[in-house]
Amino acid sequence: MILVLLGPPGAGKGTQAARLAAAFGMRHLSSGDLLRSERKKGTELGGRVGGYMDAGHLVPDNIIVEVILAELQSAKREAGVILDGFPRTVSQAGSLDEALSRIAQKVDLVISLQVPDREIVARITGRRICSTCGGVYHVVKHPPAQPGRCDRDQTPLIHRPDDTEDVVQQRLAAYHAQTEPLEAYFRRKGILVEVDGTPDADSVFAELQRMVKQRLGEAVS
Ligand code: AP5
Ligand code: MG
Repeated sequence: MILVLLGPPGAGKGTQAARLAAAFGMRHLSSGDLLRSERKKGTELGGRVGGYMDAGHLVPDNIIVEVILAELQSAKREAGVILDGFPRTVSQAGSLDEALSRIAQKVDLVISLQVPDREIVARITGRRICSTCGGVYHVVKHPPAQPGRCDRDQTPLIHRPDDTEDVVQQRLAAYHAQTEPLEAYFRRKGILVEVDGTPDADSVFAELQRMVKQRLGEAVS
């Protein structure tokens, strides 16, 4: 199964993708986490994308398409893949569809998490992440057990450099201009569902789990 999670910055894509991956044995493929890991390792790719990310702009389509399609190849043997943060433009979606059709696959379900801009800023500025395992926290809504440390591996939590109020406004602008048109693209294919992302994370997860189970049930019947 190939599931795409769509939604603005801070909608909860990473939070929910990690939980769904654990529940269904699927691979969580986050384009943002991949790029951050390249930057952390100091690779040539990391150097090329850093400026775009810190300014809240999308990285060029050709760069991200190459990275994600290579990762998808290596995920072939898993129960399925959850794409978090990719595709993010209509051109990326076209490249994904084309690559999947070459291996007789397709995107099965696209879930668009709906969260209004006014709530995004509070989520983003309060977010802290673990640079080792990618764990996501919020200083108020989802604090770690020990302040400033990841529950899983005790790594000190960090504040993403693009999680400032100014940069989040740019990320929201990029989302509305370049990513939101994807909703219409996937709606035309009949695979888009919209989910309210504003309830607490457990309630959103219950709804997403229900949808994935339903889709898996349809696939086997
Ligand atoms: P990326 O890392 O993908 O960032 P994003 O899309 O802006 O999404 P976020 O990771 O900020 O939010 P999220 O939806 O994962 O929310 P989360 O679960 O963490 O991309 C970063 C950059 O990389 C881009 O700007 C771009 O430069 C580049 N890039 C990546 N992919 C690209 C692509 N395909 N093309 C081009 N460029 C690309 O939750 C947020 C916070 O809210 C957390 O603190 C969490 O605890 C809290 N929270 C979660 N759910 C709830 C809830 N239900 N209620 C209350 N709080 C909640
Ligand atoms: Mg994320």
